Amino acid sequence: MKIGTIGAGDFAQAFAKRALETGHKVKLSNSRGPESLRQIVNRLGPGAMAATKEEAAACEIVFLAVPWDNVPETLASLPTWNNQILIDGTNPFHGKAGTFKPADVGNFSTSQLVAALAPGARVVKALNNLTVPNLEADPFVSGARRVAFISADDDGAKKRVEVLLKAFGYSVVDLGNLREGGLIQQAGGPLAGRDFFERAESYK
Ligand SMILES: NC(=O)c1ccc[n+]([C@@H]2O[C@H](COP(=O)([O-])OP(=O)(O)OC[C@H]3O[C@@H](n4cnc5c(N)ncnc54)[C@H](OP(=O)(O)O)[C@@H]3O)[C@@H](O)[C@H]2O)c1
Repeated sequence: MKIGTIGAGDFAQAFAKRALETGHKVKLSNSRGPESLRQIVNRLGPGAMAATKEEAAACEIVFLAVPWDNVPETLASLPTWNNQILIDGTNPFHGKAGTFKPADVGNFSTSQLVAALAPGARVVKALNNLTVPNLEADPFVSGARRVAFISADDDGAKKRVEVLLKAFGYSVVDLGNLREGGLIQQAGGPLAGRDFFERAESYK
C-alpha cells in the first residue's frame, strides 16, 4: 500500500520507517516541496518517495504529523478529501519541542477538530502518545508488545488502521470514538506520554 505523510519531520520519519519495514511505500511531504526532501527519502531508503502535499494526501492512508499551530493552514491547503483515512498523530501544543504550551481546543477532542477541518477524510487518532525513539524502536521487547491506542468515529477506518498497526508489531487497543477515545489518548489525557506493553500470552 502507498501511505502519505503530511509533514516530514521527526515524527513522520519515524512513522515512515515502521511503514517501510512492513513493506509499504511512503510518500512524504512538507510545506517546502519534494526537492527539500531528497536527503530524507535517501536516508529512509527504498520505498520512500518525496511528494507534494497533494500527492501524499491522495494516498489511501495519510499520516498527519505537523505542529499543532500549523494544522489549520495545512488542512486548508489540501484538496477535498475523498474518503481517505487520515491518521492524526498530532498533539495539541503551541510551539516546538522544548517550548511546549498546551493548546486550548474548547469542548472538542483535538481529533474532532482535525476531522472538522478535513471534511471527507476518515480520521483515526493513533500513535500520538509515542515519542520518536519509541516509535522507531522494535515494538517487541522482552516478550511483550508495545501498545498503540486508536480512536475513530468510522469503524471501517479504525479497523484498517488496527490492521496496519498490528502489522507494524503493536498490540492495538481500541479506545472508542474520536470524542471519548480522543480525550483519553490526546495530550493532557490520562494516556498521554504513557508507554505500555502487553505480555505475549494476552495478544489479540
Ligand atoms: N516528535 C515527537 O516525539 C512526537 C510524538 C508524538 C506526536 N508528535 C506530534 O507530531 C507532530 C509533528 O511533530 P514533529 O516532532 O515531527 O515536528 P517537526 O520535526 O517540527 O516536523 C514538522 C513537519 O511539519 C511540516 N509542516 C509544517 N507546516 C506544514 C504545512 N503547512 N504543510 C505541510 N507540512 C508542514 C514541516 O515541514 P516544513 O519544514 O517544510 O514546514 C515538518 O516536516 C506534532 O503535532 C507533534 O505534537 C510528535
